[in-house]
Amino acid sequence: MKKLTKQEAKKRIEKLRKEIQHHDYLYYVLDQPEISDAAYDSLKRELIELEKQFPEFITPDSPTQRIGGPPLEKFEKVKHKVPMLSLQDAMNEKELKDWEERIKKLLTPTESEKLNYFAELKMDGLAVTLIYKNGVLFKGATRGDGYTGEDVTQNLKTIKTIPLRLRLDELEKFLKKKIKEKEIEIRGEVFMSKKAFLEVNEEQKKKGGIVFANPRNAAAGSVRQLDPKITASRKLDFYGYQIITEIGQKTHSEVHQFLKILGFKENPYNQLCSDLKEVIDFHQKISKLREKLPYEIDGIVVTVNDNKIFEKLGVVGRTPRGSIAFKFPGFEATTKVKNIIVQVGRTGKLTPVAILEPVKVKGVTVSRATLHNEDEIKRLDVRIGDTVIVQRAGDVIPDVVKVLKSLRTGKEKKFLMPKKCPICGAKVYRKEGEVDYYCSNKKCFATQQRYLYHFVSKKAFDIEHLGPKIVDQLVNEGLIKDAADIFSLTQGDLEPLERFAEKSAQNLIEAIEKSKKIPLARFIYALGIRHVGEENAQLLAQQVIAQIKNKKIKIKDVTNFYRNISLEELQNIPDIGPIVAQSIYDWFHDEKNINFLEKLEKVGIELEIPKIKISQKLAGKTFVLTGALKSMTREEAKEKIRLLGGNVSSSVSKNTDYVIVGEEPGSKYEKAKKLGVKIINEEEFLKMIKG
Ligand code: IVH
Repeated sequence: MKKLTKQEAKKRIEKLRKEIQHHDYLYYVLDQPEISDAAYDSLKRELIELEKQFPEFITPDSPTQRIGGPPLEKFEKVKHKVPMLSLQDAMNEKELKDWEERIKKLLTPTESEKLNYFAELKMDGLAVTLIYKNGVLFKGATRGDGYTGEDVTQNLKTIKTIPLRLRLDELEKFLKKKIKEKEIEIRGEVFMSKKAFLEVNEEQKKKGGIVFANPRNAAAGSVRQLDPKITASRKLDFYGYQIITEIGQKTHSEVHQFLKILGFKENPYNQLCSDLKEVIDFHQKISKLREKLPYEIDGIVVTVNDNKIFEKLGVVGRTPRGSIAFKFPGFEATTKVKNIIVQVGRTGKLTPVAILEPVKVKGVTVSRATLHNEDEIKRLDVRIGDTVIVQRAGDVIPDVVKVLKSLRTGKEKKFLMPKKCPICGAKVYRKEGEVDYYCSNKKCFATQQRYLYHFVSKKAFDIEHLGPKIVDQLVNEGLIKDAADIFSLTQGDLEPLERFAEKSAQNLIEAIEKSKKIPLARFIYALGIRHVGEENAQLLAQQVIAQIKNKKIKIKDVTNFYRNISLEELQNIPDIGPIVAQSIYDWFHDEKNINFLEKLEKVGIELEIPKIKISQKLAGKTFVLTGALKSMTREEAKEKIRLLGGNVSSSVSKNTDYVIVGEEPGSKYEKAKKLGVKIINEEEFLKMIKG
């Protein structure tokens, strides 16, 4: 293409920008594109190319500016000029009718007479506010606590359905007057479609990143990204629902009309209802459509249409009287928070989880709900002992949506995020600009994960149906924090999970139940003490059995045994070397491990003691082996000696009764001679153990 002069380029850039904005409008708002995607892309490419050559002509509202710029260090705080309120809820028709009664009492008969309502879908996303200066998007912020939010302008700019420039000319044409206001503030909901949500999670799984519980969290997480490139990749969407600035809107339906003229996409289902009956019909219609909609909604928002009346009704607490959220039934239930625990994820992220009294939600028993992060706990002000509303959005882990504070008794306990990682004890920290805490020990999760795999493996607890994949899933969903938690799982915990159905949930719970009875040696092996493999676990088990002569041995007995034994005594156990002894000693003197053992006892682990009839032929005799045997390995010989009640030691001392000498014996042979210990060869040994 011919190289343009500066002046020509400026003109061409302006024209291209206008043209692209026009096609964006046709595509996103009217849903009536006039040109093909390819032609559109070609226009955009030309603009990009020209702006590259003449960067001085790039404006903040150029369609090329949707990439958002370099990553931020942190988000700046933004104080809202008008607070961002929330809505009162109506859970059923009666509550909706009560609302109408209440507001009518505050109005004159004529006002009551002409009441009509605007009904719109309540998008399940996050509220944001957009400030346009002279028609150009200047600042975008999250709701925050309603008074102060965070500046996420560059992230919101990546959302295609948020216009970078308002079509003020069009609105002026429509209103037949000039709009004098320099700043226009608009509010609405950023959300993620169900399809985009599934794609994002697929992607996150592949990358080993955080898997989002529902589209709302995915949308919120994406808007609160310091790197706008990540936000741009997340396919977010937007519907507007408020114009804060007075620009001539007299009704709420005009608000929506204006928004559409200004360049915002309008939800086609939104409608004006002439009375409450129509609102109820609308609610029913949408309720039936709900599952099929490409995005998640949690109800409808009903607003008194006349703005004057809306204003007159005022605000109660932090909710306007003139609007109400008419929720959908069945997806929510109330229950009590029994406890709040913290789960540590793959990335080291700490997630607080509410342990609930089991309750049925949409046909599934729910016993846990994610609380996401500390901010969410503060926002909800949820405490241990609270009665809460839980919700199942889609088919994933439930959320706590609301705390019923009026049901508090005063005994509720506030929850504080731990300062130390509940798994490894390392310090936790909060990254600048992020809501989440992380464990500072980079290996924390990997170690924990490996340990859990070990714990459930064949040679340890041998839990059928519980492979690494399911273990990962249980950890990721916050169902297990440590290995002992496996034994407190209920069918209700598993049923809402992906890959689980009633039957598979039941199978796993049964397998877990079965595994609660475990032979002592396997139990010791499962503890994952360093240097204690299968064989050492066997030795330790024999030692414990020999010392605690009870028929029944409890975990507590094992704990006490090892807490009371000295390091020296441990080293004297035949075949337990100093390093292994030290490791066992340290393990049983770590408070964390003792708590874990107590937890295992509490969840009902029962130790089994093998009933082998031990012949006492070699009772009290200590053997040392040196050199290779012909008829068996040294391990086999050791086992035979032990089975007959004898001990095997690795070094020769005065206490040694016999040294068995094989081929090419080592220094032990010399030592035995020196100490005058009885030396026998393989044949003599075989004779000794025969019969
Ligand atoms: S009107 C006074 N309309 O619901 C607040 N809200 O519980 C004005 N929401 O914070 C809200 N879709 O995040 C309104 N069509 C809609 C909505 C909507 C979703 C959210 C919004 C708000 C929350 C209120």
